[in-house]
Amino acid sequence: MNRILSGIQPTAAMHLGNYLGAVRNWVGLQDSFETLYCVVDLHALTLPQNPAELRENSRTLAATLMAAGIDPRRSILFVQSSVPAHSELAWLFSCLTPLGWLNRMTQFKEKAGKHKEQAVLGLYSYPVLMAADILIYRATHVPVGEDQKQHLELTREIAGAFNYRYGREYFPLPEPQIFGSATRVMSLRDGTKKMSKSDSSDFSRINMTDDADTIALKIRKAKTDPLPLPAAPEDLEARPEADNLVHIYAALTHKPVAEVLAEFNEAPFSTFKSALTDIAVTALAPIAEEMRRLLADPGYVDGVLHEGGGKARAIADATLREVKEIMGILTPAGP
Ligand code: TYM
Repeated sequence: MNRILSGIQPTAAMHLGNYLGAVRNWVGLQDSFETLYCVVDLHALTLPQNPAELRENSRTLAATLMAAGIDPRRSILFVQSSVPAHSELAWLFSCLTPLGWLNRMTQFKEKAGKHKEQAVLGLYSYPVLMAADILIYRATHVPVGEDQKQHLELTREIAGAFNYRYGREYFPLPEPQIFGSATRVMSLRDGTKKMSKSDSSDFSRINMTDDADTIALKIRKAKTDPLPLPAAPEDLEARPEADNLVHIYAALTHKPVAEVLAEFNEAPFSTFKSALTDIAVTALAPIAEEMRRLLADPGYVDGVLHEGGGKARAIADATLREVKEIMGILTPAGP
């Protein structure tokens, strides 16, 4: 059976990179896979969080996912922490994961920066929890943006290490699904940096919660270079900001980059930016509106997550029981 698990952190509002790189693909995959999507609040705790904001962001993010098309009748939508088996499996995996594998992780190096000694253990072992998120459901496919590729490779290595140690093919080696024309959306202020929730400038990203005027302003202010749009996709290579905006346009309109360039026929960026604004507002405004409608009834959103948590626990607990059995953990029977 093909099963999908993917997750997103409730650190701040979901942005256009999350949407085009991952969430929009999650929506389409609901028709052909059994799908589980989670709000990974335990991962968010690897950086300091305000408790009230974290709780609120988790609910808002769930509402945004539903507004973007995650349908609770077709997908299991839940909060990671409501399924304790994720954390328990993460511990079991941490006893199988060599430090050398974690030392390769570029995201840790980026996030810990120069202050490695002050970085918390959770930030370092983050990818082990991510592997547990996926493998506790024995998921076969994981739709993500380009930046998660290395974590997925580690997940496959951990699955392989478990299978090898215990001499059976218990865990599948999950396939990353990285597709679309915007697998790595870049910052609007710097085309060499990823669009990210943690960037200090709100002008670096388009949030799914932004209204039409904010989207228009951010696109107008987006960094470009003085040249008009090129005629050929190859000519975008040395122009990261231009490349990024064209890829965003291509992704939002479902057109190949070459077709977008042909359509604009070497137009100046002012013309392109106003077309991009219209396209972005048309695509994103209905999602923001639906999110606000859903959040007007927080009890409904919480109810969906509660039900999703129950369904996820049923699958996860069964895996954990089998894993403990395989690893030799005694489960004492009652009287
Ligand atoms: P997170 O919360 O940073 O991002 C959620 C999803 O959005 C993708 N993404 C992007 N795609 C394109 N361009 C960007 N600028 C961009 N920024 C983010 C991410 O690749 C991701 O697919 N570690 C994960 C969360 C996680 C997870 C999991 C994912 C925890 N457990 C299990 C898959 C399976 C993360 O921090 O994603």
